[in-house]
Amino acid sequence: LVLILDFGSQYTHLITRRIRSLSVFSLCISGTSPLKSITDLNPRVIILSGGPHSVHAPNAPCFPDGFIEYVESKGVFVLGICYGLQLIVERLGGSVRVGEKQEYGRMEIEVERACGLFGGSKKVGDKQVVWMSHGDEAVKLPDGFEVVARSQQGTVAAVTHSPEGMETLRYFLFDICGVTAGWKMEDVLDEEIKVIQGKVGPEDHVICALSGGVDSTVAATLVHKAIGDRLHCVFVDNGLLRYKERERVMETFERDLHLPVTCVDATEQFLSKLKGVVDPEMKRKIIGKEFICIFDDFAQHLERDLGKIAVYLVQGTLYPDVIESCPPPGSGRTHSHTIKSHHNVGGLPKDMKLKLIEPLKLLFKDEILAVPTAFLKRHPFPGPGLAVRVLGDVTEGNALEILRQVDEIFIQSIKDAGIYDSIWQAFAVFLPIRSVGVQGDQRTHSHVVALRAVTSQDGMTADWYNFEHKFLDDVARKICNSVRGVNRVVQDITSKPPSTIEWE
Ligand code: XMP
Repeated sequence: LVLILDFGSQYTHLITRRIRSLSVFSLCISGTSPLKSITDLNPRVIILSGGPHSVHAPNAPCFPDGFIEYVESKGVFVLGICYGLQLIVERLGGSVRVGEKQEYGRMEIEVERACGLFGGSKKVGDKQVVWMSHGDEAVKLPDGFEVVARSQQGTVAAVTHSPEGMETLRYFLFDICGVTAGWKMEDVLDEEIKVIQGKVGPEDHVICALSGGVDSTVAATLVHKAIGDRLHCVFVDNGLLRYKERERVMETFERDLHLPVTCVDATEQFLSKLKGVVDPEMKRKIIGKEFICIFDDFAQHLERDLGKIAVYLVQGTLYPDVIESCPPPGSGRTHSHTIKSHHNVGGLPKDMKLKLIEPLKLLFKDEILAVPTAFLKRHPFPGPGLAVRVLGDVTEGNALEILRQVDEIFIQSIKDAGIYDSIWQAFAVFLPIRSVGVQGDQRTHSHVVALRAVTSQDGMTADWYNFEHKFLDDVARKICNSVRGVNRVVQDITSKPPSTIEWE
């Protein structure tokens, strides 16, 4: 096992994922975890991540007491990256200070001493391009440490997110630490199926709310493999879904994945509660509450009508949701393990007494390969559905219907242009205003729709996608020509921040 101790770098998850891609199992825990959490995992290699702090800051995160003694006594290999390197230097009697020149972005480093980290390929004086992002630097190394490379500015360099970064990781793990590759994603899935089979008793039933998204679908597929039709899935049509989404999603569940899914049509229930509501937070609360009622009713129906008692609840929690990280100062993030509800809006009722099954909790999103690829590659869709994309009252006029048609044209055009997979998320927004237009020699006073497409890694930050002008021209023309009630199309060209991805 390769254990990554996270000190808050943006790239910690990436390192964990990269190591797995070398067929070596890696896990990531908070850099300030108790020593027992580290020793229990019995890692052969520990990587201390970078982070936004300075080792001299008052609350700078640090590995637990006894860590150095533990790695020394057990002969655990340790690699420090940026902050991780500076922590080691500081704790072992070297010193770190604020660098005279801060180094951000692409830099060259020069090899000062042949070292296993560079394999046999780099000689003294050879250069390597790396990505740097640091303010502090190590100025005095602890006894027994040697500088193997320096940046152009003379800083002792650690390799991060760099063209030869993978090579360096490979040399480190296989040549220096003697780790053997052999870990496979499928092993984790097989293991997880066995765990579920051992956990769920022969009379126990399991329920799962499917959102139509990738995570809950894959989680349900695995549990279904483990316990068959003792799994009961529910898919709720809340009236806020996209064009033909219910039919398409149900078809995938039934035809491609053979999942036992009950589809509940709750359109009336949701839309009647949302009538007249324009405040986005209020909309979310109402939607969350209704989801819970339906879910509760479903569990009761199983027990009352079918005599099947649900003991477990499947959640599509992924590894990044489970990792306890050291949040950067001021980020507002906490160390807590957040349980993701199936719709992320209201959470599940506290008194449901269901125990959780989270079969994907050790996996990254791109590691989930058990479902058809087309399904995996769907853009994310928010739990509250089109309610966050119709600004104002969702029941006003035929806002939802107009939005569905516009969205479908936009998404289909993106697919036809072959750029769906280059975009992280694309959708249309219905604005609660009208503007004047002229269509067929007539003045119109119709609706405005906005198109939004972004690129992103995780939805936390995003940039707007730059379409070709011809593409935009074609889409706008198609929308105004075929969707009644729309005479103006605008494009959202803001990044996140300052905007969010959804308009709400
Ligand atoms: P924002 O609008 O906050 O969205 O920039 C970031 C990402 O989160 C999605 N999103 C949600 N997903 N339940 C979800 O499952 C929600 O309540 C929710 N709100 C926003 C949004 O679509 C984007 O991908």
